[in-house]
Amino acid sequence: MKCLNEKKPELKNYQHSNQRKNMLQYSLAEQIAHGMDVSNMAYDVAEKLGYKKEECYELAVAGILHDIGKIVLEKEIGDKPLIVEEMKVVRMHPVESYDVVKKQGYSDFIQQSVLHHHENYDGSGYPDHLFGDDIPYGGRILRVCDVYCALTSDRPYRKAYDHETAIKFMVEDIRNFDLKIFLAFQKIIHENNRKAIILGDLTVDERGDFV
Ligand SMILES: [Fe+2]
Repeated sequence: MKCLNEKKPELKNYQHSNQRKNMLQYSLAEQIAHGMDVSNMAYDVAEKLGYKKEECYELAVAGILHDIGKIVLEKEIGDKPLIVEEMKVVRMHPVESYDVVKKQGYSDFIQQSVLHHHENYDGSGYPDHLFGDDIPYGGRILRVCDVYCALTSDRPYRKAYDHETAIKFMVEDIRNFDLKIFLAFQKIIHENNRKAIILGDLTVDERGDFV
């Protein structure tokens, strides 16, 4: 039974606080840095998979722009309750990003990569719950790079994970990723003198195909 004298939890009012303002500012700066990280890694992974230079370049552009919808949505948040609005940002930002790049006349490949960068290989992602190779390959590459770059970066609510921990988390959720792309990503990491994780007896050739 609820005690009548129970103190109500103190609700944080972010409406006019610097805390909220700083959080959004931090978010913007971090999103730009994150976009560049994802862009560089996506280019390298696509190149490792054997895609043409032009395709790698297109993917790099998609990498920079993949979260641009978050900026659009954050502008719309205004004074609305933060938690509800943040959830909206999380779920809607790929569609918002897609709308931006489409409006700006970017290629269909960039549009589709941006739209589907949160789809999971097992069909559990969003916005369209696409499954396996139905997810455009640009979206599948961005998914791997996005998760790794996010885990290894500082966030407003946590410190960056080290490389080994980030890879461990990703291996635990391996069903989210296209394994061929994940293995190419691992080769890139390995070439950057980072410790590679061995996935059983699997090996991959230069194009990322199983051998
Ligand atoms: Fe995103």
